[in-house]
Amino acid sequence: MISKCLFPVAGYGTRFLPATKSMPKEMLPVVNKPLVQYGVEEALEAGLTEIGFVTGRGKRAIADHFDVSYELEHQIAGSTKEQYLSSIREVMAKGSFSFTRQSEMRGLGDAILNGRRLIGDQPFGVVLSDDLCVAEEGVLAQMVKLYKQFRCSIVAVQEVPDDEIHKFGVIAGEQIKDGIFQVEQMVEKPSKEDAPSNLAIIGRYILTPDIFDVIESTPPGKNDEVQLTDALLSQARDGCVLAYKFKGRRFDCGSVAGFVNATNYVYENLYSQE
Ligand code: UTP
Repeated sequence: MISKCLFPVAGYGTRFLPATKSMPKEMLPVVNKPLVQYGVEEALEAGLTEIGFVTGRGKRAIADHFDVSYELEHQIAGSTKEQYLSSIREVMAKGSFSFTRQSEMRGLGDAILNGRRLIGDQPFGVVLSDDLCVAEEGVLAQMVKLYKQFRCSIVAVQEVPDDEIHKFGVIAGEQIKDGIFQVEQMVEKPSKEDAPSNLAIIGRYILTPDIFDVIESTPPGKNDEVQLTDALLSQARDGCVLAYKFKGRRFDCGSVAGFVNATNYVYENLYSQE
């Protein structure tokens, strides 16, 4: 029922400079796999096989990653080294990949609006691949199940400590089921004092396609960027948006400390040298 997933990957990744000067931050490897591949694998696990990227200048490596590399593959064909390509080959066999560009970094809302032509008029997933999620059942798969039940936009949330709340979009609302909230309030990057709760939005969403019109009529907000949070709040006020406290663990790989934690976790728990 939901088959498409959008990956906004136009950001500059300034927190990882100089590593990201000429390389997309989404291609930084967590152990041996680029960040973005973890996100795409999560989308595929949820049955979202039509993957759309909103890219920008300097992001060609992402498109190349999800394409055949003839010289390399020819060179190692038949050798034991071929096994290292198995995970990306599996991803390429399951998914289809489309690309569009965001010409100016005008915020996440604007990036998603740029993806409209790739999505059309159907509900879709959104993954911010700098949030690496590990869970028994993928976070997007959990959210797709919830969508089937409620048929409205859903944001993934987690509890965060007071001193980190200013980094996130924060929701407040009525708990309608264990871990599921009907959103009534949403604030982008509030101060500790202004935060309506400790439930922070992380980089996984299911959005209904009416969000595109809502974004179009959303003026730039915090930092003069078109904020997805503002558009979602309009959607919540006119209809319904749910916040879902997902099961699993999230690493903020957009920050150096989170990236190092993710690397250690993946190396110790998920990486196999086969
Ligand atoms: P971030 O603000 O975390 O990413 O945006 P960034 O700007 O790349 O990182 P820093 O702060 O400079 O280190 C969250 C996600 O939204 C995408 C980013 O690529 C990232 O995946 N994004 C954000 C866009 O695609 N376009 C935008 O205009 C804004």
